[in-house]
Amino acid sequence: MERKIVLSGMRATGRMHLGNYFGAVRNWVELQEQYDCYYFVADWHALTTDYGDPSEIVANSLEVAADGIAAGLDPERSVLFLQSAVPAHAELHLLFSMFTPLGWLERVPTYKDQIKQLTNKELATYGFLGYPVLQAADILIYRGEGVPVGEDQASHLELSREIARRFNSYYGDTFPEPKALFTPAAKVPGLDGRKMSKSYGNTIDIADSPDTIRAKCKSMFTDPQRIRRDDPGHPETCNLFQFHRLLSPPEIQERVARECRLAQIGCVDDKALIADQIIAFLEPMRKKREELMRDRGDLLAILREGSRRASERAEETMEAVRDAMSLNYDRILEADRS
Ligand code: TRP
Repeated sequence: MERKIVLSGMRATGRMHLGNYFGAVRNWVELQEQYDCYYFVADWHALTTDYGDPSEIVANSLEVAADGIAAGLDPERSVLFLQSAVPAHAELHLLFSMFTPLGWLERVPTYKDQIKQLTNKELATYGFLGYPVLQAADILIYRGEGVPVGEDQASHLELSREIARRFNSYYGDTFPEPKALFTPAAKVPGLDGRKMSKSYGNTIDIADSPDTIRAKCKSMFTDPQRIRRDDPGHPETCNLFQFHRLLSPPEIQERVARECRLAQIGCVDDKALIADQIIAFLEPMRKKREELMRDRGDLLAILREGSRRASERAEETMEAVRDAMSLNYDRILEADRS
């Protein structure tokens, strides 16, 4: 029996962090058991914000790929590849851009948010507005059933469905409507208590050394109502405690929550404890990652082989798309002959 197809992409703007891992990648790893998975590094998407200085994108893409494999993505079982190594994504993006109304793109909430948040960058560009159109092409070109993403991608998935519907209504049934497979409740706070995100500079990365993790944990924001050491704490609202929820065994969670409420454990001690949990959790990934980064030629070879496999399926879709849109020059010759 043919397995269903799942696909997803990771933006190559920097190394993978705990927010990426718990928000998405952990789920990608599990899905490999049940689906044919296509996972890629969205290196062109990185250009939508980093076009002014693209010099890091290639190195970042390899880092992200190494992070993903270290986290459990398996190139034997899944197709792991680079977006830019499958140029058909760009062709489909162009075709979609012809019939995607501007209003749909201007309404996407991530578009408005990012323009507000990233004030140091000029984001009133054609490419940035079209970010979700490229994402729709990434998704639809594999005619996948499910797209495992974090909740923040909901509006992009909705737009992909709208684009599929519009294509199908103009040119005939070609694309199934993709469904988002949301990762069950795993919001990871950053060091400053906002959502963990590379653009906020508040991340703990898969590749961080134990020393870096300890230093970062020391800088974490804690319960703002607990000012002095002997004030009682509020683990339910403190962002430190979120990390225990994600990483610590239940005994530690219970003990810390109790001692925090009674002011028996201080925030400084708790930060050290959290650092230990994170370090232990990341240790096997860090080892695997180091091994992969030792020879980037081998790593690139894995991604090139994945890109070749991805291209096969992408090309099948493009044949169907060119037919549906009457852009197939061979067809006119066939008509001449008959
Ligand atoms: N926009 C996604 C993110 O920021 C990355 C991405 C690009 C993606 N293309 C995709 C995710 C296709 C899923 C499917 O996380």
